[in-house]
Amino acid sequence: MAPPPISVRELYQRSRLSGTPLVGGHRGNPAERPENTLSSFRSAIELGVDMIECDVHMSGDGQLVVIHDHTLERTTNGSGFVGQHTLAELRALDAGEGEPLPLLAEVCELSRESGVGLCIEVKQNPLHYAGLEEALVAQLTDLGMVEQTAVISFNHASARQLKELEPRLTTGILEGARPIDPVGLMRGALADLYAPHYGAMDPELVEDVHAAGGAVGVWIVDDDAAVAWCKLCRPDSVFTNRPRELLLKLRD
Ligand code: G3P
Ligand code: CA
Repeated sequence: MAPPPISVRELYQRSRLSGTPLVGGHRGNPAERPENTLSSFRSAIELGVDMIECDVHMSGDGQLVVIHDHTLERTTNGSGFVGQHTLAELRALDAGEGEPLPLLAEVCELSRESGVGLCIEVKQNPLHYAGLEEALVAQLTDLGMVEQTAVISFNHASARQLKELEPRLTTGILEGARPIDPVGLMRGALADLYAPHYGAMDPELVEDVHAAGGAVGVWIVDDDAAVAWCKLCRPDSVFTNRPRELLLKLRD
């Protein structure tokens, strides 16, 4: 098992020094492959992204699986809640073009082998998976992936718990609105990253987070207007559903 060349923390430091944002494949390369499948992540990696982002849920028997929704209907041929199925049941489903829904461990392995950073979004809203944070830290520790992974969540208590469980983990809080005090939110959650929708970012926010020692990572940057806003605001990482079209523009 060859270790990846650098940690997520170093990736972010390099990006700051070079003035070039990290570009991430959001759910892999969902513009061209079924979202959150191994082929989607491989495709994004082949295109040259710095990081891949995936969404994590827990099966009824406590296994960490990669899928976006709490329910199966939109992205698989199954139905009902992810958390009400065993891993064996989930793995028998088609997550798109005949591919199974990946185990988190498989995505970790792909990230390690390819040397790209991994960003894991923990889906703890609206449904809550008891024990997910402990299971995630245990798995990243077993796989030697603690320092190669950033873990983010809209559930700020979950982000805080992850940092308390494993202080070496890079953690971040997701946010859809533009709060009065983003740095205060980060401090409350013990977070390293502030991760807003790009439209909830502005230059002052980026400046404030940087001044507080944090980094800013934005998501769903999928068109030229969003790219232009990122160039003005200068976040540290940018996640896109369309890495083929936008990778070079974002690094330009
Ligand atoms: O990376 C954060 C972003 O993925 C949050 O939104 O709904 O695409 O998981 P969502
Ligand atoms: Ca996500």
